Amino acid sequence: MKSLKLAMRPAFFQMWRSQTVQLAKYGLFASIAAFLATAALAPLGSALIQDWSRRDVELRSTLVFNAVGMHLTGLLAANQRVQIDQLFERVASDARVVGVALCRGDGLPEYASKLMPSTLTCKGIARSEAESFSTLTVAGRRMLVGAFPISAREIAAHFIILHDLSYAEARGTEIRNYASALLVGIMFLSASLAVGLASYLARQWLKSFRAAVANAADTSIMATPGQIPGPFDSEIRKLLKKLDVSRNATDGEHVQWSKQALRNILNTDLPGVDVLVVANREPYIHNNGPSGIELQIPASGLVSALEPVMRACGGTWIAHGSGSADRQTVDANDRIDVPPVNPEYVLRRLWISEDEQDGYYYGLANEGLWPLCHIAFTRPIFREADWQTYKQVNERFADAVLDEAKSPSPIVLIQDYHFALLPQMIRARLPEATIITFWHIPWPNAETFGIFPWKEEVIQGLLGSSILGFHTQFHCNNFIESVDRFVESRIDREHATVCHRGNETSVRPYPISIEWPPEALASQDSVAACRKQVRNRLAVSDDTKLIVGIERFDYTKGVLDRMRAVDQLLIAHPEWKGRFVLLQAAAPSRSKLPAYSGLQEEAIRLADEINARYSDCGTAPIKLVIRHHEPAEVFELFRAADACVVSSLHDGMNLVAKEFVAARDDERGVLLLSSFAGASRELSEAIIINPYDAFAMGEALHQALTMPAPEQRERMRLMRARVSSRNVYRWAGQMLLDAARLRQKHRILRMASEPSQ
Ligand code: G6P
Repeated sequence: MKSLKLAMRPAFFQMWRSQTVQLAKYGLFASIAAFLATAALAPLGSALIQDWSRRDVELRSTLVFNAVGMHLTGLLAANQRVQIDQLFERVASDARVVGVALCRGDGLPEYASKLMPSTLTCKGIARSEAESFSTLTVAGRRMLVGAFPISAREIAAHFIILHDLSYAEARGTEIRNYASALLVGIMFLSASLAVGLASYLARQWLKSFRAAVANAADTSIMATPGQIPGPFDSEIRKLLKKLDVSRNATDGEHVQWSKQALRNILNTDLPGVDVLVVANREPYIHNNGPSGIELQIPASGLVSALEPVMRACGGTWIAHGSGSADRQTVDANDRIDVPPVNPEYVLRRLWISEDEQDGYYYGLANEGLWPLCHIAFTRPIFREADWQTYKQVNERFADAVLDEAKSPSPIVLIQDYHFALLPQMIRARLPEATIITFWHIPWPNAETFGIFPWKEEVIQGLLGSSILGFHTQFHCNNFIESVDRFVESRIDREHATVCHRGNETSVRPYPISIEWPPEALASQDSVAACRKQVRNRLAVSDDTKLIVGIERFDYTKGVLDRMRAVDQLLIAHPEWKGRFVLLQAAAPSRSKLPAYSGLQEEAIRLADEINARYSDCGTAPIKLVIRHHEPAEVFELFRAADACVVSSLHDGMNLVAKEFVAARDDERGVLLLSSFAGASRELSEAIIINPYDAFAMGEALHQALTMPAPEQRERMRLMRARVSSRNVYRWAGQMLLDAARLRQKHRILRMASEPSQ
């Protein structure tokens, strides 16, 4: 799978950088060209100016001679020396004229104005029969010498006029300086224009990039073509599409989800990420037993789903240390590496006092939220003191998350109704964290939820999550309806997001599942051996039909209803008397609560009552085993059974159903599954039952007991295929992929909101 990180970030910035670099290059090129032009044209301009100045001076010399030539000839003819001197001084008074002289022969000039350089001899001046001009350097100054012949009235002489050319050179230099300054100005201006244009275009691109990202963010991660304006359109669409393509690739049924596939996702899409799980129930409990410290794996669907995920991902699981020997087995930081054999992750235990346990776990969680969320007609109990303790314990777990986080942006997987307030508390402590909350139980409709006294706080607490998961779309819809009714927020129903106080939460279904193949299956005997062993233990004949029911002793599981259905079966189909057993394995659970202890008593009473009714049949129809069963025992029972009954009155998912399917690699056995368990959405090849209808359930039991082997195989094959592909690695993988996409999206949004440089 291609890394999302590689897919997005460099491409946007390469694009932006390459455009800016391109324009900067143009600017540099224009500057160099302007500089070269300046360097090349300045001397040429200066030469032109000097040439033009010299011709100007020559013209002036000619004009002077034309003006005084005739008069001078007359004065020479009359030999009027004084007037000639006066005339020369008058001509030389012009600022640019250095001096005038009259040359006859090669010696010193016959007449010369006062400032005529004394070193100048007539020999050194080029003369001819026509006017001529030459240049001389006198005392370091360049002079233009004009020589005009006078040949009249037997006079043969040359009128000499000297002009200072240094002013022309000064003018050339001045003009060259002006030209250079002008060209430097042009160069600077063009470079500034190029840079300005570059940054303007970059800003425009960035603006459209932001608009596109904002649009994409608004319309979920996958924007439809045409929604994104501006020059980044196609690029952003391509990149966002890449995100979605990778989602499709991993969502598809063809992906074989496994421990390794999950590890690959972490390595490619979330490299080096810090994974923290918070769940009230710990995956390994240490208890003091008669023979020392004993290890127990609790009966919890949550634990059986999450534990293999943690083994794949590593990280830290923060949980209540509930075992009597838990404190003895942790290190100084309350941590212990688990699983005990070949550890793969860390379990951090948090100690909760008995009072806290009463208020938070027994009270608010299990007498309040549990019956509130399950339609099992057990009235929820709400106590203010429990609520206060629930809040305090949630705060304590939030502190533990902060303790355990190795980075400011870990992925925190919060589990279940014990921690409804935790997402918001963690968001406040670690704003950059990606918080995935999974609600393992049903979410009731808004009307039912409305009776909860602290409904707003619970909803707001959960809306601290980045992703909030339920097992089914139905529960997602119920949650969104509750949000709509009880808190102020922006709900986007199309993309199933809720925006509350600036935080966006995606509300999605992630049907939980089991590890495939389950670890407990590896050590199992053949189905035939399991059948024999279990029947021997039950002291029933080999051909006795066995139906198993295995779960925690909970009023939501429909244990009593299942017993009543057995009664109905034997009434309607007496041929099963003495030939059939329902083995009900029930793990004591939350027994401190009257609703649970009462159920236990009621179940014992009902089982006795029904068994008494059929005492003359040899084999009692109901065998109730009230104790905890380790996974290996559970799988042995599944393999020994002819059918498994899951008759929950209401259940988020129910993993017992999936475990039974996983245990039956012989493709035999029948599953009876309540239509009120989330699992019935996926395992539709089971016999779907209504636990409230005892008669119909009795008939369903009969159908299971008489189902032909080919039909069993056909149904089991389809269910096994579904559970194997939709295993728990897919459950976790899809959440982690969504988390990776969210992190990617937030990175893009952050980049887009950073001030442009
Ligand atoms: C359900 C809940 C879990 C819980 C499990 C066992 O599956 O969703 O959160 O761990 O029951 O209950 P317990 O109270 O013993 O943890």
